[in-house]
Amino acid sequence: MCGIIGYAGGQADRNVVEVLSSGLSKLEYRGYDSAGIAIADPSVSVYKREGELEALEEHLPEGTVDALAGIGHTRWSTHGPPSDENAHPHTDCEGRVAVVHNGIVENYRELRDELEAAGHVFESETDTEVIPHLIEAALEQGADPRFAFRRAIERLEGSYAVAAVFHGREEVYATRDQSPLVLGVDDGCALLASDVPAFLEYTDEVVYLEDGQFATIRPSGIEVRDERGALVDVSVETVDWDPEDAGKSGYDHYMLKEIYEQPRSIRECLRGRPRPLEEAVSIEELDGLSRPTEVQFVACGTSYHASLYGARLFRERGVRATAFLASEYDVERLPVDDGTLVVGVTQSGETADTLRALRTANGVGARTLAVTNVVGSSAAREADHTMYIRAGPEIGVAATKTFSSQQVALAMLSSALTDECSRRFVEALRELPDGIQSILDGSNARAVAEEYVGADAYFFIGRGYEAPVALEGALKMKEITYEHAEGFAAGELKHGPLALVSEATPVIALVNGRANTDRMLGNVTEVETRGAPIVAVTDDPGAVAGHADHVLSVPETHWRFYPILANVQLQLLAYWVANRLGRSIDRPRNLAKSVTVE
Ligand code: F6R
Repeated sequence: MCGIIGYAGGQADRNVVEVLSSGLSKLEYRGYDSAGIAIADPSVSVYKREGELEALEEHLPEGTVDALAGIGHTRWSTHGPPSDENAHPHTDCEGRVAVVHNGIVENYRELRDELEAAGHVFESETDTEVIPHLIEAALEQGADPRFAFRRAIERLEGSYAVAAVFHGREEVYATRDQSPLVLGVDDGCALLASDVPAFLEYTDEVVYLEDGQFATIRPSGIEVRDERGALVDVSVETVDWDPEDAGKSGYDHYMLKEIYEQPRSIRECLRGRPRPLEEAVSIEELDGLSRPTEVQFVACGTSYHASLYGARLFRERGVRATAFLASEYDVERLPVDDGTLVVGVTQSGETADTLRALRTANGVGARTLAVTNVVGSSAAREADHTMYIRAGPEIGVAATKTFSSQQVALAMLSSALTDECSRRFVEALRELPDGIQSILDGSNARAVAEEYVGADAYFFIGRGYEAPVALEGALKMKEITYEHAEGFAAGELKHGPLALVSEATPVIALVNGRANTDRMLGNVTEVETRGAPIVAVTDDPGAVAGHADHVLSVPETHWRFYPILANVQLQLLAYWVANRLGRSIDRPRNLAKSVTVE
């Protein structure tokens, strides 16, 4: 949902343009409709282009540039289609101020009318362009740059992370409200970005800016002020992500790398939590959180599918639990009380729909818990409690390793909060990384993908704990292949979807050999009779013999964890179909990783 970066620094070995463009390459997962940078050199020079970052890179100045500060942006369009004009940075009439923005200025229409009436000339259709013109108006009234920036921001309604450079100033001004912004500090330079991986190669020392705070970054360091202009004593935190984690490490795509990272990310998620001796699961950061009387999950997309899985785990342990699409939650006015725990499951911790749902829940007195991957994210800061899934940075737009970590985290959460566990449960949790590794080592998903490229549609079916993974398998397939794919609870097929099934629609059936096997095989037979090819994803090849055209194997595990393993085969299947079709796997069309608009 747009990525922004800023840099102020004077090291001889670092060129502002290179720092900005390398940062943007790490932020492209947030949007890739256009990209641009502005450098204070010391006038303000802007370079921007429609399309992916490569299109911009051809137009950037080469060699040393005489600038110590700059800003950059990668765009996911909201107001105005992708074009050179609508690309950020945007400037004022004189080109003395350049601004990048992530978020939405809700009152931009009225501000634009006011500014145009005062003689300002606009060049784009964006909401953002009002910001440099508001700054210009304040400068004309005699404000200094820092104050002019603040005055402009005070006029905005909506959500934003904004950064600006000014003619003749070797610094970047920035602020945020409901959109992410993190600062980085190092000797002789300071950085800011929508997300840490953008500057991880330079520093791992970060400051999470709060909503309403204003930052100035300079080669000599950072300065943070509160809404009233008073200096804030910020705390610098060290992130423990390895810069290598943010690169592709030799894989063709981030998505494939992230699929292969799952044994490691699951190990991290588990670290210190399952207690074999006590036959228990303990989540240290949730000490003191008592058993809820009811759990309501709020989440979107893949995280919603993980929540469906989590809700079932709680229900099985006798706790009323429901998963809600976060975007639908606040209109339903659900009854909650102080025994209700509302769990926001969000990889990024910045999804606007999920944040709104969490705020709604807070507002009506529920306890809130964020299950997230990003330390210091808005969800982590706003919820009463936070559990981290510790998957490390995920750059591919399609969520893979964070989904499996969410499933594992929710399995542990359901056990820890209800105090229900068993030796087998703990052992099986600890065996998951090896189970995933064996799938990665032996998967024939590529060959199966080859077989079915060109199908009319792909249907995914599963029952019980498998049903959410059927939905997730279909989501992954459609988002990266652009082919039609649907997931169903297998029992629902006969109530309508069966009409879609034909010889040209492979059905990917999740057959768990330890749960619902016979009923699932009944559903497989329904589609088989209609001529659909069957790909069985199973830990029980014997059960599917005579039904399946192809088998994707899953090693033996606790029956509740079968879907965690089975999903890895579905990720690989989607990846290889998309690869064969030559799709833009890490940056599928029209999508962005972090969806910060409602
Ligand atoms: C799909 C995908 C999205 C996200 C959704 C929520 O692969 O990644 O469906 O799951 O946008 O994002 P988070 O988890 O960051 O709240």
